[in-house]
Amino acid sequence: MSEKGRILTGHRPTGRRHLGHLVGTLDNWARLQDAYECLFLVADLHVLTTDYTHPESIRSNIAEVLMDWLAAGLDPERSRFVLQSAVKEHAELALLFSMLVTVSRLGRNPTYKEQVKELGLNPSLGLLAYPVLQAADILIYKADTVPVGEDQMPHIEITREVARRFNSIYGETFPEPQGLLSQAPRLPGIDNRTMHTSYGNAIYLSDDPQTVEEKVMQMYTDPTRIHATDPGHVEGNPVFAYHDIFNEDREEVEELKARYRAGRVGDVEVKRRLAKALNRYLTPLREKRREFAARPDYVWDVLYGGTARARPLAQATMTEVREKMGLS
Ligand code: TRP
Repeated sequence: MSEKGRILTGHRPTGRRHLGHLVGTLDNWARLQDAYECLFLVADLHVLTTDYTHPESIRSNIAEVLMDWLAAGLDPERSRFVLQSAVKEHAELALLFSMLVTVSRLGRNPTYKEQVKELGLNPSLGLLAYPVLQAADILIYKADTVPVGEDQMPHIEITREVARRFNSIYGETFPEPQGLLSQAPRLPGIDNRTMHTSYGNAIYLSDDPQTVEEKVMQMYTDPTRIHATDPGHVEGNPVFAYHDIFNEDREEVEELKARYRAGRVGDVEVKRRLAKALNRYLTPLREKRREFAARPDYVWDVLYGGTARARPLAQATMTEVREKMGLS
């Protein structure tokens, strides 16, 4: 193990990343690269747990995610980008781990229960076993730290249980990884629900300035306010939540808030200024992303290079696991 702590985290490659991915997640991962050895996983196998009927879109979705990761400051010089399906040891370890977890434990996983309810589907074995594969992703690299959102904490808990169970039967092998929650506030989508690709309420890192402006102009604001002269609510108003996060001109933000509360500024002006601020904020990201989009080979090289540098770690763990489980 390295002296620095080791991070393994990742995303399912479901396409372009949006502001909800950036704030509190990608910006946090980018910072953590200073203090940790980082592995960033493109979890393409996990995508199949809910969508295995679109094989034609997997490659392009992976590329979109990678370009956004790079634009957001994930650095292939310091960190390894890993393609899950290209390191077969993930699947092998997941199979062995599946013996150590009960079906009833997985059935109690809140993320699973919610998904089954929401999607109204007859869940596959793969969906039930989602956290087992995630445990393998993390433990195969013996990562000790997993920065994730609140929604992933149940999976980290299952990972810790698997590690404990394995260690208690076969001897000390895996660290019990810690979930690392970021302090960032939840970012609402333009309709004030959680920002989510499938809700159609997201602003993407790669949206052009005009698209950003159009989306901001549609944003949900204070529903109790009918005229620009009505006193408005700043708290719980997503337009001001965005100003707080993205507008570097603090003076402008405070002035707008005061005028809004007093009924001396209309939503249109507040939104126009937000669109400007957001576009200022996104400009450097967009420029970087455009460079990567012009060099698709580079993007794939980064992924295959990182994967090749991660594979030996996974193989070493599997050798150890097979030996301990009597399979060598
Ligand atoms: N389940 C995670 C998500 O949907 C993605 C993921 C897969 C992951 N394997 C992981 C995250 C391992 C952290 C560690 O966001």
